[in-house]
Amino acid sequence: MGAALTVAGASRSFGGVYAVRDVDLTVEPGELRAVIGPNGAGKSTLFALIGGQLAPDAGTVELDGRRIDRLPAHRRGLGVVFQAARIFTGMTALENVMVGAHGTTRAGFVKAALRLPPFRAEEREIEARARECLARTGISEWAGRPAETLPLGQQRALQLARALCGQPRLLLLDEPASGLRAGERERLAVLLGELRREGLTMLLVEHDVGFVMRLADRVTVLDLGRVIAQGRPEQVRADSAVIDAYLGEAAA
Ligand SMILES: Nc1ncnc2c1ncn2[C@@H]1O[C@H](COP(=O)(O)OP(=O)(O)O)[C@@H](O)[C@H]1O
Ligand SMILES: [Mg+2]
Repeated sequence: MGAALTVAGASRSFGGVYAVRDVDLTVEPGELRAVIGPNGAGKSTLFALIGGQLAPDAGTVELDGRRIDRLPAHRRGLGVVFQAARIFTGMTALENVMVGAHGTTRAGFVKAALRLPPFRAEEREIEARARECLARTGISEWAGRPAETLPLGQQRALQLARALCGQPRLLLLDEPASGLRAGERERLAVLLGELRREGLTMLLVEHDVGFVMRLADRVTVLDLGRVIAQGRPEQVRADSAVIDAYLGEAAA
């Protein structure tokens, strides 16, 4: 079962301007929470505060009641799919996914790869898991290819496979459908639905409002770094502040 996430009073500014300001967010175990909002609303910054890529100026992040905001990113028990594709070049797609099982560092992977025979069995297990993750994300046929030669859609799937290979308790996805073709987008929606039924907790930022409204249990709307609305998709869709800040803009 996925973990509960509690963000309390999270703030982060850049050059005196708040990107995220006093954000509270509670996600139930197994919930698929969408985070929407206009460009620059602070969605990616909030993700980075949760994921550990950025330090907050104030606030706490807890997973199942344990503070994780002082832990390094790879020790937080999270899987992260970043907005911009992040792959390790000079490694195959399969190796990229195996990195996910080693705490998401290339160094950890290289160290593990150099380990002596007693550790090889563990390595084989990880390889099997990585192949499963490649299959789930639909890119098995790319396993042996250098990661940087994969087309964009497959690189995005690769990131998701890597995140899943780390067996996260919470999955953070920052615009995972951006740049995908319709078929790839549909496949992603199906996979996210499956993961949700398996009980994985997910936080999903997405620009395509239709995409998130269909998948999310609840939706949090950010604008100018603050939470301006939160609720079930149909409640949020009807909220006038949301329409003003975002849906109106999207419709215009
Ligand atoms: N590393 C950074 N340095 C300076 N400003 C930043 C940085 N990251 C984000 N910002 C600013 O913070 C605000 C929120 O950005 P971001 O979190 O990327 O928004 P979103 O993901 O919702 O589009 C924007 O005004 C952006 O310019
Ligand atoms: Mg963003």
